[in-house]
Amino acid sequence: MSGTARVTVTVNGTRYEREVEPRLLLGDFLRVTLGLTGTHFGCEHGVCGACTVILDGDSVRSCLVFAVQADGSEVLTVEGLGTMERLHPLQQAFREHHGLQCGYCTPGMLMTALDLLRKTPRPSEAAVRDGISGNLCRCTGYQNIVAAILAAAERLASP
Ligand code: FES
Ligand code: FES
Repeated sequence: MSGTARVTVTVNGTRYEREVEPRLLLGDFLRVTLGLTGTHFGCEHGVCGACTVILDGDSVRSCLVFAVQADGSEVLTVEGLGTMERLHPLQQAFREHHGLQCGYCTPGMLMTALDLLRKTPRPSEAAVRDGISGNLCRCTGYQNIVAAILAAAERLASP
């Protein structure tokens, strides 16, 4: 079909094949094409971090990646992080430490924090603050988010 491209992307362990316009953003592919609305859009130009997902092991802003660029890749979104019955340790820590208020930034914060803890399992407070410095939160003042990420790091590092 002219004007479209076929992409195959594995999202949260499920393989999807879709015909998309080349200009379609990965975030819109996730939210609109696949109906995975856990990934949020804020600024839509790479500033706020709300749209952060994990693409082949690295956090990316899904408003700055085209869906066709993710062809053949693995994506992890907040829907793949945990379940209501079994929260991921990061989600559990955000809950326990009140790391969210309105929750709009939370999916992006969680995915950014996941990337941070995978690469730096025992971060200092300064490293956590640096790690989330590209994610904007209008509500919390960040203190509880930092506390939650440090607590999750502790939990994940414990045998
Ligand atoms: S919506 Fe992607 S960085 Fe703001
Ligand atoms: S909790 Fe509202 S923007 Fe972060």
